Amino acid sequence: MSVVDALLQVFHGYVASRSDPVLRRFVEGFDWRMAERPLEPHSLPVLDYLNVLHPPVDGAEGELFSGLAAAASALHWAQTYNIADFGADFLQRYGWVELFGTRGHFVSDEMAGGFLMLGPDVHYPDHHHIAEEIYIPLTDGSQWSKDSQAFLPRWTGEIIHHPSDIRHAMRTERTPLVALYLWRGGPLAQKSIIPGRAV
Ligand SMILES: [Fe+2]
Repeated sequence: MSVVDALLQVFHGYVASRSDPVLRRFVEGFDWRMAERPLEPHSLPVLDYLNVLHPPVDGAEGELFSGLAAAASALHWAQTYNIADFGADFLQRYGWVELFGTRGHFVSDEMAGGFLMLGPDVHYPDHHHIAEEIYIPLTDGSQWSKDSQAFLPRWTGEIIHHPSDIRHAMRTERTPLVALYLWRGGPLAQKSIIPGRAV
């Protein structure tokens, strides 16, 4: 089994292990048996932060983090934004990998899932998209804002739900962010809309 196959297994196992009702409803009926899509590895500068992070101490999140770290160099990391959106420094400290979805390592038109990484001292400004979204941080202390409310710290294993088209933003301080994400119920490859910017 490849490290990417193994990561999908641990991703699925982790999601299935959580009893949160919002997450349960989100993944209900999803068929995790997906065809593999051959993708070349693609690295990004933000991956350097994986090596300096302490893996989560809890068993379930720790196993998922370890699976990601083991597969990281085989994954096709990507960025939705360009230098005109949030600047060059942001692009040095931001990236995501779609493990499954319309573009990812496994094929699904129904739901996308993968991981987001942000380096330290990053502000990912307000944005929104049609798809409904769940994030589960695998690191502690990142700050999250939803629907223009105040930023609040979030912790490893918390389930963060963004309904369709709700604005959300994230900030990191000293600790980088690694988070599992899931998208469904909208175009799975949509570039987020940044309020106040021409689309
Ligand atoms: Fe989002």
